[in-house]
Amino acid sequence: MSSDIQQVILWLIYLFSSITFILGLKRLSHPETARRGNLMAAVGMTVSILGTIFLYRDDAGDRLHNHIWIFGGIIIGSIVGTLTARRVKMTAMPQMVSLFNGMGGACAAIISIVEYQRFDFYGWNTIAVTLAALLIGAVSFAGSMVAFGKLNGNVSDKIFPGQSIINMIVLLIAIGLGAYLVMHPEQNMGILAIMIATCLLYGILFVLPIGGADMPVVISLLNSFTGIAAAFGGFIYNNQVMLTGGILVGSAGTILTILMCRAMNRSLLNVIIGNFGGGAVSAGNGNNKGNIKEISIADAAVLLSYSKKIMVIPGYGLAVAQAQHIVHELEMLLEEKGVEVKYAIHPVAGRMPGHMNVLLAEADVSYDRLLEMEDANSEFSTTDAVIVIGANDVVNPAAKNDKASPLYGMPILEVENAQNVIVMKRSMNAGYAGIDNELFYEPKTRMLFGDAKASLQKLVSEVKAN
Ligand code: TAP
Repeated sequence: MSSDIQQVILWLIYLFSSITFILGLKRLSHPETARRGNLMAAVGMTVSILGTIFLYRDDAGDRLHNHIWIFGGIIIGSIVGTLTARRVKMTAMPQMVSLFNGMGGACAAIISIVEYQRFDFYGWNTIAVTLAALLIGAVSFAGSMVAFGKLNGNVSDKIFPGQSIINMIVLLIAIGLGAYLVMHPEQNMGILAIMIATCLLYGILFVLPIGGADMPVVISLLNSFTGIAAAFGGFIYNNQVMLTGGILVGSAGTILTILMCRAMNRSLLNVIIGNFGGGAVSAGNGNNKGNIKEISIADAAVLLSYSKKIMVIPGYGLAVAQAQHIVHELEMLLEEKGVEVKYAIHPVAGRMPGHMNVLLAEADVSYDRLLEMEDANSEFSTTDAVIVIGANDVVNPAAKNDKASPLYGMPILEVENAQNVIVMKRSMNAGYAGIDNELFYEPKTRMLFGDAKASLQKLVSEVKAN
């Protein structure tokens, strides 16, 4: 086959792969189609990698010849990736995403280091793009590693005076060194090494002060950095599929970051320098708002069994307690008794995007039982009982009523419109935002204290006995 024909086939493969990335990404937006979307993009990625390995020719017309190194790396990477992904616990998913994202950043940085050494071959503009990819990739790698350490409990938040200014200076030094290398057209590996060290230092300093619970936003941001670094790689190699993939990751990560901030009613700057939600949650100031009422397991079982329609509000505590399977059992039991059971999903319930969807999917809860926030809000007035399981901020009316509240402006699940509210949690402690919740003192609210899984197990036994 002539090399021209091979080139055309390679372009067609890249076009096909780019389309699979776009369609795959689109399908990721719904739990029902997400698995197929992921598979579709993976097929596109595999085809484009194989196409590049076997059909790519460089400017001198040479093919890639180091197949043993390439396939050796692919095999080792695939084994490690598959084993890690299969073994990871659902609650450790954010750490894994962070680790894999860090690998993407490292990859972009290493490509840049290799390509910089072909300085004579490239013009200044390609070198500028290469060094930009190095900067972003190295920051993403170091930042992701710190995020991984924090989520894994190995690294704690570190705040010191003048931190923002020091961070800014380190970043400016890294950019300055990059600019120096672009303007001086001779290869300078010494300066390059200092630039790499400065970028890594910035990545560490950037993530170190950010509150542990803000990590999902930061990981999403670092993910978009990795995408941008990969897109720069597409420029360096004039590779269309790398460019498309990088741009998609970069833009999707940026949009996700913005959406998360918006749903939390926070600015990105506030997340980066605010250190909000970092340390231990403050205890709710339970006594100054009035009395709370408790409900016994037996009374809760009667209330639920004789309701017509029930809405479950899952929150972070459901994930902590790993109570997703038992809540599904309760749902099936109640359905057998003729009770309609639905789940109301707040976009930022839990600690990562889609956390509640993933958790409930793991327990085989049917997708058509899940209501998005707007739909759920329109149904609460016709709901007999709401069971809030380990959720707190996402049902806090202060988001609507209290201008001074850090939650003010965040859309919430308006559970107070239902006839009865049962709240399952272990204590009066606050949630992520660290503030009290006036819902717990409402006349129609009754608290069911205890670990969510233990309480649900007792509730299931009681409902069975009813
Ligand atoms: P939170 O407001 O964090 O409340 C969770 C509640 O679960 C706590 O009050 C805790 O009370 C309870 N809990 C913990 N372990 C429990 C267990 N084993 N059994 C029963 N209850 C347990 O959760 P939420 O309502 O899901 O809100 C999410 C918050 O995280 C929002 O503020 C959101 O902005 C923020 N956030 C979300 C994301 C994403 S993307 N989802 C990212 C970053 C931040 P006790 O200690 O009394 O049990």
